[in-house]
Amino acid sequence: MHLDVVRHFFPVDYIKKYIDYLTFHKFNTFHWHLTDDQGWRIEVLSYPKLNTIGSWRDSTLIGHFKDTPARYEKKRYGGYYTRTEVKEILQYAAVRGITVIPEVDIPGHSRATITAYPEFSTDPSNKWGVAYTWGMYNRQNNVLAPTPETFTFLRTIFHEIADLFPSEYIHIGGDECSKMWWKQSATTQAFVKEKGLKDEVALQSYFIEQVAGYLKEKNKKVIGWHEIMEGKIDTSSILMNWADDKKAIEAVGRGFSVIMTPGKPFYFDHYQSKDPSKDSLAIHGYNPLEAVYKYELVPSAISSKGLGHKILGGQANVWTEYMEYATKVDYMVLPRMTAVSETLWTAPDRKDYGDFLRRLKAFVIPRYEQWGSSYYKGE
Ligand code: ACM
Repeated sequence: MHLDVVRHFFPVDYIKKYIDYLTFHKFNTFHWHLTDDQGWRIEVLSYPKLNTIGSWRDSTLIGHFKDTPARYEKKRYGGYYTRTEVKEILQYAAVRGITVIPEVDIPGHSRATITAYPEFSTDPSNKWGVAYTWGMYNRQNNVLAPTPETFTFLRTIFHEIADLFPSEYIHIGGDECSKMWWKQSATTQAFVKEKGLKDEVALQSYFIEQVAGYLKEKNKKVIGWHEIMEGKIDTSSILMNWADDKKAIEAVGRGFSVIMTPGKPFYFDHYQSKDPSKDSLAIHGYNPLEAVYKYELVPSAISSKGLGHKILGGQANVWTEYMEYATKVDYMVLPRMTAVSETLWTAPDRKDYGDFLRRLKAFVIPRYEQWGSSYYKGE
């Protein structure tokens, strides 16, 4: 299970409660999405402005991103987990058999970083500002510029992260990096030329390979969103596929190992009711419990070639743009999280949705109630 703590920030006690959910459901990995356009959520020693500036935004969108006019709560919002808190959470997870994999998303999704350190952006004279609205992709500049200072920054930051987290893998994001800002930047274009890179896609790969190299110095390997295979990168990095089966088939065909986290049905920021007016506000889409339960992890085009082992597992993602409070996270993940667990742990021919619903009601919903957790009670 994944949790975005950037768009909204949750207290340490809730992170522990969330880890308890993972333990109960026999998940083994917690993917902690710690940085994005809307803030840095982890204490950093080497670049302190990531916290004094990058962890805070001036206001936050309220209502839906598509509402016109858009409305904002004009209040400073943010925070970050201290290193002491991170260590406490790592310890809490470790004794429960959960590996915590941190994500620091680069080279896009970096608006908070370039607000703290404009010199790492393609336009250092700009004042930027930590993002206070959602869906930044392509509309506003949020990319790192390829300069010696940026690469020093990345090496230092990822070494710091690698020293703090015991996981074998570190997630480096790599998703939704718009190339237009690099195209517009004369210094970036000069860099592309100097390094003999074919284009901006090759530059994206260059970033990924640099960071993979820095992490290798610390004996760590890389997980990235599937976009990192756009260019030519070596297949020791694991891809996290948030698209459909076609991308997974392509990735496995190219020799990558893949974790499946498909938008449909494993994005838990989507609606649970077919009728959004009967549900709490969500980003869009419809991922009902039944679709989650019936998801088949390994595409037949992969298993028929004897390559099923290249699909390492599955994960549901919890992007929190529309989850202001922990109770809303609970409502969005329960009971879908229970369905993910059963679907990933059960051989396809043994899955039985009717029986799952019966057991959910008899044994699991009482647990949610005992935990004092809210949950979706619809169909
Ligand atoms: C993603 O949803 N951009 C990974």
